[in-house]
Amino acid sequence: MTKNNKVEFNSLVCDILENDNFLQIKKDLHHGTSKYEHCMRVAKLSYKLSKFFKADVRVATRAGLLHDFFIGTRKEKPENSYLRHPYTAALNAQKYFNVSDEEASAIRTHMFHQVLLKKLFPFVNRKEKANLKESKPKSKEGWIICGSDLLVSIIECERFQFSYAANVILLLVLNLVMFKN
Ligand SMILES: [Fe+2]
Ligand SMILES: [Fe+2]
Repeated sequence: MTKNNKVEFNSLVCDILENDNFLQIKKDLHHGTSKYEHCMRVAKLSYKLSKFFKADVRVATRAGLLHDFFIGTRKEKPENSYLRHPYTAALNAQKYFNVSDEEASAIRTHMFHQVLLKKLFPFVNRKEKANLKESKPKSKEGWIICGSDLLVSIIECERFQFSYAANVILLLVLNLVMFKN
């Protein structure tokens, strides 16, 4: 990312990155890395893709950063489940950052790739229900978030699974230091 792009990226998301509620996702593990790192990667890729595809850079970048804004793991609460967490993240984004309808919609549909997979292979994640039409991205920015999340997730799983134990230890230490109370 060029210096100018870094400045623009930071200006688009600085309020989110300074918010204590959002920073809580630093303690959550995701694909062998922290959820915060995952969201930052998706936001940066969404930022670049939105410029390339001439989409709304603000919507794509902010929705990319907030797409997994839910506290705790996907297994801990029903609302954080594999296919319901996009709705939880969208609600949190509206609650804490008053995001636009376009941003909320892009967050809600970021798991379309998994809904599609489930429709093709019904035995995948059998307990959860998913509506293909409802889960389908409604805008260019929505498709960008969905594609960025898929790409980043594949790379993270490939790259970080080997250092999974080290990340667990690191996150436990971070939890102890940053979120003592
Ligand atoms: Fe997600
Ligand atoms: Fe994600």
